Amino acid sequence: MAALDRATEAEEFLSQPGFYQSSVLLPIAAHKRALLYAITTYPVTILIGETGSGKTTQLPQFLHQGGFTSDEKTIACTQPRRVAATTVALRVAEEMGVRIGDEVGYSIRFEDMTGPKTRIKYMTDGMLLREALVDPLLSRYSVIMVDEAHERSLSTDVLLGILKKIRKKRPELRLVISSATLQAEDFMRYFTEGEEDASKVATIVGIEGRAYPVDIQYLQEPCEDYVTRAVETVFDIHLKEGDGDILLFLTGREEIDRVVSLIGEQSSSLHPRSPQILALPLYAGLPSDQQLAVFDPPPENHRKVIVSTNIAEASVTIPGICYVIDSGFVKLRAYNPYTGIESLTAVPISKAAATQRAGRAGRTKPGKCYRLYTSTAFDSLEQQSIPEIQRSNLAPTILQLKALGIDNVARFSFPTPPPAELMVRALELLYALGAVDDYARLTRPVGVRMAELPLDPMLSRTLLASVEDGCWEQMLSIAAMTTVQNVFITHSDSKKAGEQQKRMFSVTEGDHLTLLNVYTAFTTRGKKEAKWARDHMLNFKALSRAVSVRNQLFRYLERHNPGLAEKHCENVTGERIRKCLVKGYFAHAARMQPDGTLRIPGREEELWVHPSSIMFNRKVEWVVFHEVVEGKKLFVRDLSVVEKAWLVEGGGGYWGVKEGR
Ligand code: CDP
Ligand code: MG
Repeated sequence: MAALDRATEAEEFLSQPGFYQSSVLLPIAAHKRALLYAITTYPVTILIGETGSGKTTQLPQFLHQGGFTSDEKTIACTQPRRVAATTVALRVAEEMGVRIGDEVGYSIRFEDMTGPKTRIKYMTDGMLLREALVDPLLSRYSVIMVDEAHERSLSTDVLLGILKKIRKKRPELRLVISSATLQAEDFMRYFTEGEEDASKVATIVGIEGRAYPVDIQYLQEPCEDYVTRAVETVFDIHLKEGDGDILLFLTGREEIDRVVSLIGEQSSSLHPRSPQILALPLYAGLPSDQQLAVFDPPPENHRKVIVSTNIAEASVTIPGICYVIDSGFVKLRAYNPYTGIESLTAVPISKAAATQRAGRAGRTKPGKCYRLYTSTAFDSLEQQSIPEIQRSNLAPTILQLKALGIDNVARFSFPTPPPAELMVRALELLYALGAVDDYARLTRPVGVRMAELPLDPMLSRTLLASVEDGCWEQMLSIAAMTTVQNVFITHSDSKKAGEQQKRMFSVTEGDHLTLLNVYTAFTTRGKKEAKWARDHMLNFKALSRAVSVRNQLFRYLERHNPGLAEKHCENVTGERIRKCLVKGYFAHAARMQPDGTLRIPGREEELWVHPSSIMFNRKVEWVVFHEVVEGKKLFVRDLSVVEKAWLVEGGGGYWGVKEGR
C-alpha cells in the first residue's frame, strides 16, 4: 500500500505544469503486458486512449522489447501528418539513446531517415502505401500500427483497405489501429465483417488517461474576427490566470504567423519584471527545428503560447498546457467534382474535434478552454467531420489502387465508400491523362510509371511527357520547385526588397519559368553557402531541398530511360516547356475575364490569381495553374500563359468529353 501511495504522490509531483514527464510514468506503462498479450493473441488490436497517454511513442518500443523485431522484422507506425512522423521519431530515438536513422527512423515523402538497422519506423500512411507497390504484402513488417485512424485521412482509409486484404494472406501480421473511443466499434466491425469467428480476429484495448476536468467558456455573442479575439484572450489569461502554458488553435500558416507576431508586439507593453510571453508557431510547413521548439520548456519567467493548426489536436502532444483557446475552425480539403478543383477551406470543426481540443487543457491539472464561439454555435456543429475520401480528388488514390493490382475499385473494401460522382470524375481525368484505357485498366507503360512517381498524377504526366519532348532537365527542376514550399522569403518587414529580388528572376510567361530561373541561378551560383540565397531573399533550406527532390525524381525517370543523364536537352524554349506543362495540367486550364478573374471553361466559379504570382494584375488570355490555395477567395498559384490550341492538342480530349456532358 505504502509503495502505491508513493507512486501516486510522485505522479502528482511530476504532473505539475512545467515539469516534463518521464515516459516511465505515462499511463500506457501500466498496460504494457496486457497490450503485448492482446497483440500476440489477436491479429487486429484496436487501441483507444487519451491523447498523451503514450500510444505513439511507447507502444512501438514495447513491441521492440517484446520480441516483435527479432528475425530482422520491423515495426511500422503510420501517421497522417509528416510533422508527427518526424517529431515522434526524433523523440523515440532520444528516449532509446540511439541516432535517428539507426534503430529508430522515419520516412516521409522525399526524406528517408532509415537504415539497415531500423527496427522502429515512423512514416506517413502515404509512404507505407508506396512501399506496397514494391512489396505487396509489406513482408518486412511484423506489426503495423495505424495511428490516428479516427482522423480518417484519405491515405489512412486506403491503407486500412489494403491492410485488410494483406492480413488474409499473412495471418502472422499484427495490426494495431489507434482510434478515438467513438470510432472503435466501427473499426472492429470493419475488420471482422465476413469472418467466421469475429471474436478471434480483433479486440479493443482501452487505456484510461489521466484527464482532469476542463472548465469550458463560451462567448456570449458571436465574435466578428476570431484572430483579434484570440490575441485578446491570450493576454487576458496571461494577466488574470495562474501558471500554465496556452495552446491556441487557428486554421493555417498565414493566420498563425500573424498572431505570433501580434503577440510578440503586444507583449513589449508587459512590465519588464512581470512574467513574459513566448509565442511559438506550429504547422505542417514549418522547418523541423522550429517544430521541435514547441516541446522545450519555456525560459524562466515566461509563459509559452503555442499557436497551432489542428496538428496539436491529437497528433502532437505538448506538455504543460493548461489553457486552450479554440477558434472553432479548421482547414479541410474540399473537392468540387464539377470544377475539378481541390482546395483547402476553413470550415467549422466537428463536436468531436471541439471536445478533443478542450481535452488538451486537462492533461496536467484542471484546465480551462475558451471557445471563441457561442454555445448555440457549438450545438449546431456536426458530430464528426466527413472522412476525407468523401471530399477529395480521387485521381491519385485510384491510380495507386490500380497500380496495387486492384482493378475493380468500386468493389474495394473502403471503410467508407466514396461517392460515385468522385470516382467517375477521377477516372475521367486519369483517362484524359492516358493513365487508364477504355476499360479503365492501367495503361503500360504510362499509367504504371505515373503511379511510381511520388507526385500528383498531373505532375507525373508532365514529367513523363518532358522526356519525349526533350525538356526533362528543365521540367525536373520545375517539378522539384513546385514540390517544396516557401521558396521566396516574404517577411512583412522586407516585402518590397523581396519583390524586387523576385523581379530579377521573373519571366512574363509565368511562374513555372520563373521558378526554373531561380533554380538554375541557385545551382550555378548559390548552392555552396546560404549568403547568396539570403541576399536574393530566397529560402536556402527550401532550395537545397529542391535540389535533393530533383535528384530523387531524376532517379525515377532514369530507371526507365537508361542513359538519360547524357541526353541533354538542347535549345529548349519557354514555349516548349509550357506546351509540355499543358500535357499534364490541361484540367487546370482557365481563361482570364476582362475583370482579371479566371474561369474554367464552362464553369461559373471565379478564380483569382494569387498575389504571389508573376501573373498578378496582368492581362493574358489562357493559363494553366498548379494548384488552388487557401484564402477567402479561390486563389490559384503557380500559373503559366498557354494557348488555346495547345489545350485542344495536349488535353487528351478532356475538354471535348466535358462539353458533351
Ligand atoms: O500517442 P499518445 O497521444 O498517446 O502520446 P505520445 O505521443 O506517445 O506522447 C506521450 C508523451 O510524450 C506526451 O506526454 C508528450 O508530451 C511527450 N512527448 C514529448 O515530450 N515530446 C515529443 N516530441 C513527443 C511526445
Ligand atoms: Mg499519438
